[in-house]
Amino acid sequence: MGTHDTIRAVIWQHDGLRLLDQRVLPGREVYLEYDDASAVAQAITDMVVRGAPAIGCTAAYAVVIAAREAYARHGTDWKLNIQSDIKTLADSRPTAVNLFWALKRMQSLIEGIEGDPVEPLLAEARRIQDEDIAANHAMGELGASLMEQVGAVITHCNTGSLATGGYGTALGVIRSAYDKQLITEVFADETRPWLQGSRLTAWELVKDGIPVKLLADGAAAHRMKQGGVTWAIVGSDRITADGSAANKIGTYSLAVNARFHGVKFMVVAPTSTVDMSITDGSQIPIESRDPDELFSIQGKRIAADGAGAWNPVFDVTPPELIDAIVTEKGIVRNPTPEKMQAMMQR
Ligand code: MRU
Repeated sequence: MGTHDTIRAVIWQHDGLRLLDQRVLPGREVYLEYDDASAVAQAITDMVVRGAPAIGCTAAYAVVIAAREAYARHGTDWKLNIQSDIKTLADSRPTAVNLFWALKRMQSLIEGIEGDPVEPLLAEARRIQDEDIAANHAMGELGASLMEQVGAVITHCNTGSLATGGYGTALGVIRSAYDKQLITEVFADETRPWLQGSRLTAWELVKDGIPVKLLADGAAAHRMKQGGVTWAIVGSDRITADGSAANKIGTYSLAVNARFHGVKFMVVAPTSTVDMSITDGSQIPIESRDPDELFSIQGKRIAADGAGAWNPVFDVTPPELIDAIVTEKGIVRNPTPEKMQAMMQR
């Protein structure tokens, strides 16, 4: 880990999984320990851990836990007995495709294992996390290479070490570009309703020595109008074959506003986030969460009693609003289905 990269949210240690509880940050830094796969699935649903690649890494470690338990209880029948845990994990959140990608990767290894499964599965889960961190460093360099002019950037949600195996996607580009002195200021949308920006991105950047200014989500357009913002840089939970990108609710309006103000729009995500099995963004399952996320902040009711709420937590940015998709395999400028296909085949 480097100077501007000191945080890890998903850690395998002492034969168990430790997750930094993102529900209580920035007030408290608490790692919770897990040795039960269905408890890990619940932790994903409850957003103890969140962010597409971090969810994928967590699910891979949960499969190790499930296999250890099934092998201890059922011996050679463990493969059959692990399936209900894998199903529970797959049901934990719907939008981030990294969850299904990681489970599929673990499943394909399970088929060939003979004897005790813990060692080979743990090695694969560690590989998934290590490869994610390596991809993030590669994307950091590629994304920074797009920033021809020194300027300010705007980001949305949290896409950093907290949301990935480590280092981050959009925040990885911001880390790399900051190291190269390409960034004058980082603006982070507070990201209503769950406040990933003000609670997590701000905490992560302050902790890693990168100055950050928070913006109310609705202030982004006004800030772009003042000038000096060169790029809006975001992550993604699922990118489809045509280059549509699902990401935290509010990303789409940021993209519309960026285009209007001549600010370039960059989506940064590893290929584990790319779902070539669906052709466009209308097919991405969009998670809706408890309206209470809108009614209350940290348990305190703020909304008028009697109001209803609509709480989709992701939206889809169409390819025509995206200037560049950055993956570890390369940069796709002005994405089209053909360019996406060519990038995935590299
Ligand atoms: O609901 P969350 O906090 O899991 O949503 C996370 C995001 O939308 C991130 O931007 C996305 O997962 C990319 S993280 C590298």
